[in-house]
Amino acid sequence: MSHAMSNESINFPATDNGNPRHIAIIMDGNGRWAQRRLMPRVMGHRSGVKAVRKTVEHCARNNIEVLSLFAFSSENWRRPLDEVSLLMDLFMATLQAEIDNMMENNIRLLVIGDKSAFSEKLQERIRLAEAATAVNTGLTLVIAANYGGRWDIAQAARRIAHSVRLGEIGEQEVSEALISRYLVTDGLPEPDLFIRTGGEERISNFLLWQLAYTEFYFTDLLWPDFDEKELGRAIDSFKKRQRRFGFTGDQIQEKKMSG
Ligand code: IPE
Ligand code: IPE
Ligand code: MG
Repeated sequence: MSHAMSNESINFPATDNGNPRHIAIIMDGNGRWAQRRLMPRVMGHRSGVKAVRKTVEHCARNNIEVLSLFAFSSENWRRPLDEVSLLMDLFMATLQAEIDNMMENNIRLLVIGDKSAFSEKLQERIRLAEAATAVNTGLTLVIAANYGGRWDIAQAARRIAHSVRLGEIGEQEVSEALISRYLVTDGLPEPDLFIRTGGEERISNFLLWQLAYTEFYFTDLLWPDFDEKELGRAIDSFKKRQRRFGFTGDQIQEKKMSG
């Protein structure tokens, strides 16, 4: 049989025990968590930071390679100004406060998204945190801030068009692999497991291109209530699934047996 795609291109779960290499999370439900307690929404965001800390440490300890967290979408600017400002302040304060913790846990930080919309001060703090943790070799923590999947694809297209115009790449070279290299997630494995808390079952413009073959897990838990236990349930669910990438189940079974 002739085929366009070789078996080599299959992105099998890479570790022996079937642990996901890359987990991507939409941390949703902070506002409702607070509202249920008759508190202002911002209290939910503050509480959400604690769940972030727990999740990051758990992933770092359990040798997950990459954890991507959706912190602020390109659409979240539509929220009331005071909520947006608080989210920015919280992001700034958390970045500052967590550097020591990231160093201790050997965590490398990457912030993805259109950072040009942030204040100079915040951009500088992001650069410093990324630079300080760049030497770390454990968990790569990806924070998506002012990120949108469509923005990511558009910025890649723009840069590719520029390179084509300069004659650096030919039209025929624009392949899936090349586009991947122009996305802001260049160099990272694609997410194996996607988790969304808060009961909503949608992507909300998170990693559109990168989620093509990711396994999805939804939970009604609101983000501030998310913990190691629920993360464990998501990983267990992931381990029970057969990822087929277009093949039949039998083909995957054979492939596994032949190593
Ligand atoms: C997610 O929680 C955090 C951000 C979007 C920054 P929400 O603030 O969306 O919480 P809900 O969905 O309104 O409960
Ligand atoms: C997605 O949550 C963005 C983040 C968690 C940062 P939203 O709460 O903004 O998503 P929608 O608006 O309900 O789709
Ligand atoms: Mg929400």
